[in-house]
Amino acid sequence: MPRSKVTRTVSAPAPCSVDEPRPRPRAARVPVPRRTPKRYYGHGVPGIPADTLSGKLIVVEGADGSGRSTQIARLVAWLESHGHGTVQVGLKRSSLVREELERAQAGNILSRTTLSLFYATDFADQIENVILPALKAGFMVLADRYIYTLMARDIVRGIDEVWLRNLYGIALAPDVVFYLEVSPEELVQRNFAKSHALDYWESGMDLGLSRDMFDSFVQYQRLIIEQFRRLQRTYAFTIVNGDRSADEISRELQQKIATVLFGQR
Ligand SMILES: Nc1ncnc2c1ncn2[C@@H]1O[C@H](COP(=O)(O)OP(=O)(O)O)[C@@H](O)[C@H]1O
Ligand SMILES: [Mg+2]
Repeated sequence: MPRSKVTRTVSAPAPCSVDEPRPRPRAARVPVPRRTPKRYYGHGVPGIPADTLSGKLIVVEGADGSGRSTQIARLVAWLESHGHGTVQVGLKRSSLVREELERAQAGNILSRTTLSLFYATDFADQIENVILPALKAGFMVLADRYIYTLMARDIVRGIDEVWLRNLYGIALAPDVVFYLEVSPEELVQRNFAKSHALDYWESGMDLGLSRDMFDSFVQYQRLIIEQFRRLQRTYAFTIVNGDRSADEISRELQQKIATVLFGQR
């Protein structure tokens, strides 16, 4: 028999219940995520109109040790258990410049603007080759950090904000953004418990705030938090109190996602 088209049966994913297990609704409700309007922050990516993207972009921002990996792993398990395909992205994960960027950071040889452009290239590669194709195919894309971290880091280093906004005009406005705000003192504890060290860049050592790494880390993280609170007014993301238990935080994230993306209360 000639086959003119391939047909497949796709069982639509169920909306996500916040606290599992919960009885599944018997009635045939429309079990698909709500359509959310998509837009680029600026010029966007040529040839890919935002309104062709049916997937959802969920961003988790926060300092090292704020619990991003922990929360993203839980969100992935939760979303997948409800039938949603997921794709994960994050900073310094592009196939184009990841290795070069790592090397440049290890050698600390680049000017601030060049390093900023390097990160922007890493981001641009991922938006074009991973994020947008996945959204076009209807995936839930979970981003472990996004342009806000890059902007906050650059702004505290004196880079012009208007220039940055233009640079990241390529970015898609996410469907939902969480910023896990954790006190710098708690971050020190968590990073030490996890890796017995603080990261040079995450401590802002290049800024010369203090020769003492602990002191520099705390000062630098305060500056970053200040910038995130300021950026929040422009980009309207959700600031989450990350000083609570991982369970409490993931309940809040799930609730917000269920409301925004699935129209649940
Ligand atoms: N809410 C939390 N309270 C206490 N410790 C946490 C919490 N979330 C994560 N952790 C722990 O803190 C460390 C850093 O968490 P992780 O998820 O790797 O953070 P990130 O990816 O933001 O660097 C890990 O050892 C993790 O187990
Ligand atoms: Mg992590």
